Amino acid sequence: MPVGGVIGLLTGYWLHLNNPRDEQTSLLMSTMHIMTVVGARPQLVKAAVVSRAIANANRLAPSVTVQEEMIHTGQHYDYAMSQSFFEEMDIPKPAANLQVGSGRHGEVTGAMLAGLEREMLERRPDLVLVYGDTNSTLAGALAAVKLHIPVAHVEAGLRSFNMRAPEEVNRLLTDRIATYLFCPSAVSQAHLAREGRIEGVYVVGDVMYDAARYYAHKARPPQLEGPFVVASLHRAENTDDPQRLRRILSALEQAPMPVCLPLHPRTRRVIQEEGIKTNGTLQLYEPFSYFDMLGHLQQCQFVITDSGGLQKEAYYFGKKCVTVRDETEWTELVEVGINRVVGAEEAAILAAFEWALEPLPVLPRLYGSGLAGEAIIEVLTSCWQSSDRNSPSRYKAS
Ligand code: UD1
Repeated sequence: MPVGGVIGLLTGYWLHLNNPRDEQTSLLMSTMHIMTVVGARPQLVKAAVVSRAIANANRLAPSVTVQEEMIHTGQHYDYAMSQSFFEEMDIPKPAANLQVGSGRHGEVTGAMLAGLEREMLERRPDLVLVYGDTNSTLAGALAAVKLHIPVAHVEAGLRSFNMRAPEEVNRLLTDRIATYLFCPSAVSQAHLAREGRIEGVYVVGDVMYDAARYYAHKARPPQLEGPFVVASLHRAENTDDPQRLRRILSALEQAPMPVCLPLHPRTRRVIQEEGIKTNGTLQLYEPFSYFDMLGHLQQCQFVITDSGGLQKEAYYFGKKCVTVRDETEWTELVEVGINRVVGAEEAAILAAFEWALEPLPVLPRLYGSGLAGEAIIEVLTSCWQSSDRNSPSRYKAS
């Protein structure tokens, strides 16, 4: 290159370094590093939605680009409980899997806490994103807050008011320490307000509604022919008491049509250990993949469950839900008449089957418009952009 060319290049570079407009542009563009913590099956469905919203937002060349790193605690580890969701829903591969596995609550939550702290110290995220109410949720929030990293909690403000349920403890503590609380509904926002929490609360709708809408056309048709019911059972309150589990299964066996029950590993283990036998009405399966479950939800007559997520999914597909628990955190579903909480007594469950076959009431829209993922990313990136660049975390703790 001739000498003049070199001088020209150097002059251009010097001008670039000293040009206030360039400086302004580079200051206006930044990268926000989000660490997403997942571990249990329902969190994968929720994370799929927000990860896709992040990828879509990044494609629009925004002033804040989000770089997401997912850490899997390993709480769920069977292929059908974890990997199948990554494959079907095209979720980015986790940057690390802590492989914590099964154990007592304190044991696994403690192991997750130690592992997540190590990951956070090494990767230095700007924000930690947690979902729902599992032990992985609480461990993620606690590890982050102790390192002064702000936490965003998706599915905040839900309350069942049953402090014996591990999920209720996890969601209460997570809400208390999170900086950003993303509520699925006005009811969850009201719970937080009653606890004195106003700041940092956003009603964005339910990310599981986004997922149901987005993936509905990928549903796999059920193998059963004719009318059937789809069921799920895994909550500790139902599986830890074998007599209670027996009563529920006995009621399912008396259903007016085949009941299709994909078994959570915990439930399968108790059924085997207790030597519980089931008849032809109750058909047991391996855990369904997400697309298999969508197919069953679309085609079933009604749903029987103790899961939080499935209660909402029943509503999204216009199916009544018989909830075999003593209370629910999704109270608006009961109020609009699509969900009935019946406990675990045989007579109450059988009576609910009749109710479930009656026509549906007119249903209002309860959990947003299916754009919760986009709303979450919009809030986080806007707050990031407007926050104080000199503060250590760039977010102000509320
Ligand atoms: C967890 C959540 C619950 C959520 C559910 C979704 C907590 C306290 N509970 O309950 O809120 O609705 O996930 O499924 O975090 N197991 C396997 N293979 C697996 C996963 C689990 O065999 O891949 C067995 C283990 O024996 C384990 C048991 O299932 O001990 C229960 O798993 P656990 O992680 O305690 O919670 P879940 O019941 O799945």
